[in-house]
Amino acid sequence: MSKKLTISSIKKSKGSKPLVMITAYDALFSRLLADSADMLLVGDSLNMSFAGKSDTISATLEQMIYHTNAVCSGAPNTFIVADMPFGTYVNKESALENSIRMFQQTQADCVKIEGGADKAQIVKHLTENGIAVCGHIGLLPQSVRSEGGYKVKGKTKEEASQLIADAKAIENAGAFCMVIEGVKADVAKSVAESVDIPVIGIGAGADVDGQVLVFSDMLGLFEEFTPKFVKKYIDGASIVREAVASYSDEVQKREFPKEEHTY
Ligand code: KIV
Repeated sequence: MSKKLTISSIKKSKGSKPLVMITAYDALFSRLLADSADMLLVGDSLNMSFAGKSDTISATLEQMIYHTNAVCSGAPNTFIVADMPFGTYVNKESALENSIRMFQQTQADCVKIEGGADKAQIVKHLTENGIAVCGHIGLLPQSVRSEGGYKVKGKTKEEASQLIADAKAIENAGAFCMVIEGVKADVAKSVAESVDIPVIGIGAGADVDGQVLVFSDMLGLFEEFTPKFVKKYIDGASIVREAVASYSDEVQKREFPKEEHTY
């Protein structure tokens, strides 16, 4: 992707072309991923796939700033979404203070916060103060402990109506796009149709305005568990293991380094 998207071009993409979003946590991978992605998400999922924790809750603002900086360095011409971690947007004041830190200490183009109508006042406060916001509705990984697990949303009429209300609330509050996660496909379609801003799905079917995947899932590097919605485009774990096993074998047999690797 050559030209960096803007808030306005992302909003205008609705109805014309699906947005491609992938998570990225460092400069090395963001450089590779940026070639084919419209937007890179520095997701707090890094706490699981990068830091080895069982959920996203313990990710800190300092860690998110560190990783966002790395991703911005690796992909300076790509639109970067920075996840605000658990506990950093519990009220308008802390949300603004922490998002300002993210904006001042990185080149992130927007922040992402989890929640629907309950977070509308916070989204409004951030956007009125110059912080662009990507919403995140449906299954909210930061609520996994209070909800007792990862639960697909939109299974009842009440949940479906709440999701549409959530999407409209954060659109009206000024969000320029949103992620919808773990939602029945027909409900996600209705949500996307109910707002004028792009709705980017993960585990939410095909009838939304774009897709996001966690890069370590799609590259087959994360082996702890594989959600139903993940497609592994390569078996990265096997490729890495085989490469390192070859290296180990060659070192033990004194086949590496050879003349061409030697000064
Ligand atoms: O943290 C993350 O990677 C996310 C995606 C699951 C959308 O929020």
